[in-house]
Amino acid sequence: MRRVLLSALVAALPAVAMAADAEHVVEARKGFFSLLAIEFGPLAAMAKGEMPYDADAAKAHAADLVALTKYNPSDLYAPGTSADDVKGTAAKAEIWKDMDAYQSKGMAFFEAVAALEPAAGAGQKELAAAVGKVGGTCKSCHDDYRMKK
Ligand code: HEC
Repeated sequence: MRRVLLSALVAALPAVAMAADAEHVVEARKGFFSLLAIEFGPLAAMAKGEMPYDADAAKAHAADLVALTKYNPSDLYAPGTSADDVKGTAAKAEIWKDMDAYQSKGMAFFEAVAALEPAAGAGQKELAAAVGKVGGTCKSCHDDYRMKK
């Protein structure tokens, strides 16, 4: 039974590997943004006073955001993965028309996250100011490059 299952799995492998196609790129890209959101959410809640400020927790979330900015996301923007090409993505085709302009939105985000790291543990007010700046860079990119629901 086990052997049968294994060989079925192995037989399925090449198909899975080849299917690293547009759908998988979209899935990974959305996963990346979900990771950003899961780390940013508690920071935003602390900034708004919806969650008690906790310096250690804030530092940990900020460090995770910094770690995510070290990831080179270029594989997540493979050609043929815009909302004009595939279902299930909100990424506008404009991204691929001027990648430099898109990347400058990404750079603004990276810089805001770099400034967030030292602010996160410095107090609720400091955190709130830095979170506001990061949030502004999320919004600025979404306004231009993410389709409205
Ligand atoms: C450089 C541009 C850019 C920046 C900066 C950016 N986003 Fe996004 N975000 C996008 C794009 C484009 C999509 C659509 C991705 C898709 O559907 O393929 C997206 C999608 C998302 C999604 C939906 C993911 C899903 O599962 O569909 C969330 C949540 C999100 N972003 C949160 C954030 C947060 C929080 C920040 C800031 C901390 C942020 N984003 C910064 C461009 C950006």
